[in-house]
Amino acid sequence: MSSQKLQNVAIVGAGGQVGKPTLQALLDTKRFNITVVTRESSSTKFPSDSSITVKSANYDSHDSIVSALKDNEALILMLNFEAMGQVQLQIIDAAADAGVKWILPTEFGADSANQGLVDMVPINAMRTEPRKRIEEAAKTHPGLSWIGVVNNPWFEYSLKGGFFGIDFKNKAATFYDEGTTRFNTTLIGTVGLAVARLLSLPIEATSGPSLSKYANKFIYISSFHTTQREILEAVQKATNTTDSDWTVKKASAQAWIDEGNEKVAKGDFSGMINLLYGAVMKEGLGGDFEATRGTSNEVLGLPKEDMVEVIKKIVEA
Ligand SMILES: NC(=O)c1ccc[n+]([C@@H]2O[C@H](COP(=O)([O-])OP(=O)(O)OC[C@H]3O[C@@H](n4cnc5c(N)ncnc54)[C@H](OP(=O)(O)O)[C@@H]3O)[C@@H](O)[C@H]2O)c1
Repeated sequence: MSSQKLQNVAIVGAGGQVGKPTLQALLDTKRFNITVVTRESSSTKFPSDSSITVKSANYDSHDSIVSALKDNEALILMLNFEAMGQVQLQIIDAAADAGVKWILPTEFGADSANQGLVDMVPINAMRTEPRKRIEEAAKTHPGLSWIGVVNNPWFEYSLKGGFFGIDFKNKAATFYDEGTTRFNTTLIGTVGLAVARLLSLPIEATSGPSLSKYANKFIYISSFHTTQREILEAVQKATNTTDSDWTVKKASAQAWIDEGNEKVAKGDFSGMINLLYGAVMKEGLGGDFEATRGTSNEVLGLPKEDMVEVIKKIVEA
């Protein structure tokens, strides 16, 4: 019993930004029967592999989702922003009725246990209800639990998008405050690896890690515990440039956040970037979860990455 592990795992959003590397990491373990659940209307293509079964479901039909999820012990939800609300709740209700016991809801971002971050960023706030729904469902579906994966900004996504305030194409950087706020950031592939390793843990264990120890809790993972200044230094090393090649300025992190709030209030969604990254890069708001919560990198055997080498691949891509 103590060494029993999961075998049947379903994933929704398996063709998405984080879903794709997660599906690959699940496949690489060679230990799961994987059910990929996709919208009936979706044109997403999935790898053809004997351990993958693709099931289309109508997310407005409870029975359709229950049928797609039947016989699965775990469900990974990696849904697009538009589906994080009502659609996710419908899938959770169906997962409970299908007998799923472990749900990884659509987290994969900031520390949802930090109420300040939840209140500050509307996208973060959307993550609360799905977890509550799982807890509610667990009252009538004993043994149902969630595990929330917290990884902060995805490193390559954020660097490519210029969201760290570092634009490597135009060699321009903006440090918020002093650019010395330490925060965590994770490679997308490492998120996928972490999910596969987490679901590979024994369900119960008297000693050592187990899935049950994370039941209804967050698990924190990170590739880099760094600052804007350290990222710029690594970008310069990776691109053989120096300060003299770059335009570097400073801005107030709070003013950036305020601008984000104003944009969002006017319906300009681009302000969400200011809020998401301001929350991480302004001192004391909770971007450094490693200091407050620690990480489970070691438990999951996550790789130690060399930032310069990682950036070389990003800029060459
Ligand atoms: N930490 C970060 O830096 C960061 C960055 C971006 C996102 N995130 C978070 O990561 C999670 C997953 O985001 P993602 O960017 O990987 O998602 P995504 O690629 O935008 O979408 C994932 C999947 O959602 C499904 N989907 C799309 N629109 C849908 C709709 N209207 N209804 C139902 N399903 C729909 C699609 O799957 P099918 O085609 O198979 O149906 C799609 O492949 C979210 O929580 C997001 O906030 C984190």
